[in-house]
Amino acid sequence: MTVSGEIGAHVAAARGRDPATANASTVEILATWPGVQAVLAHRIAHRLHRQSIPLVPFAISYLCRAVTGIEIHPGATIGSGFFIDHGSGVVIGETAEIGDDVTLYQGVTLGGTGFQAGKRHPTVEDNVTIGSGAKLLGPITVGHGAKIGANSVVVEDVPACSTVVGNPGHPVKVEGRRPEGPDTDWIHLPDPVQDAVKSLSARIKELEAQVAELSGNDGPAGDDPGPGPRRGRSSAGG
Ligand SMILES: CC(C)(COP(=O)(O)OP(=O)(O)OC[C@H]1O[C@@H](n2cnc3c(N)ncnc32)[C@H](O)[C@@H]1OP(=O)(O)O)[C@@H](O)C(=O)NCCC(=O)NCCS
Repeated sequence: MTVSGEIGAHVAAARGRDPATANASTVEILATWPGVQAVLAHRIAHRLHRQSIPLVPFAISYLCRAVTGIEIHPGATIGSGFFIDHGSGVVIGETAEIGDDVTLYQGVTLGGTGFQAGKRHPTVEDNVTIGSGAKLLGPITVGHGAKIGANSVVVEDVPACSTVVGNPGHPVKVEGRRPEGPDTDWIHLPDPVQDAVKSLSARIKELEAQVAELSGNDGPAGDDPGPGPRRGRSSAGG
């Protein structure tokens, strides 16, 4: 694509997805829309990075972050029609791969989970929207057409055409319908340790009652009173 075509495509993406552009001229968008500036700067930085030119790509990325608050590693691969609305606080890691017509809001992180090398950042397919403050971590894949809710933390693959919200991010819609089935309730996850403790506690109570019956005693006074003031001899002595 030619330079003017590239610029026109990013301005068109801003016009298509940001209602605030309604009364803005192309010059105003280019001069004051940080999301558009950051993507255009990244196009240059990425091209130079692929040619193994030292320093300059990182200097462009660094300057872009200083001006726009958006940090895109020169190695990140980004498709056409990419738009970052508002932008401040966006971080896109080196091995992130972004498809066509993807929209990001401010504060989104496409990051890694640790210090591992190699592919460690998300792959985001076409037509995905990622809400403000969402963190997508690790080499996960976000399927085409998915929506990620604001402030979600996503560490698993996201199905295509789904809506994922929360921490941990979980699908609340797939292809416009609520997911059904035993694995869809991420809020009330089973807790095997708590279940085991409960069953042991019930068994001990049962055994205490049997011992009390055999020995002719009244049995245990009741449940453990738990934390709080205890009666009886003071452990301080006396
Ligand atoms: C997720 C989002 C894209 C909506 O997608 P959608 O497919 O239309 O989903 P819905 O609005 O039907 O919501 C589905 C469910 O998720 C819940 N939900 C939506 N967004 C959520 C969020 N960010 N966090 C937690 N829950 C959320 C809804 O309350 C709803 O719950 P319910 O089914 O119990 O009623 C939207 O809510 C969102 O977060 N957009 C980001 C916008 C943004 O960042 N704007 C910044 C502008 S400056």
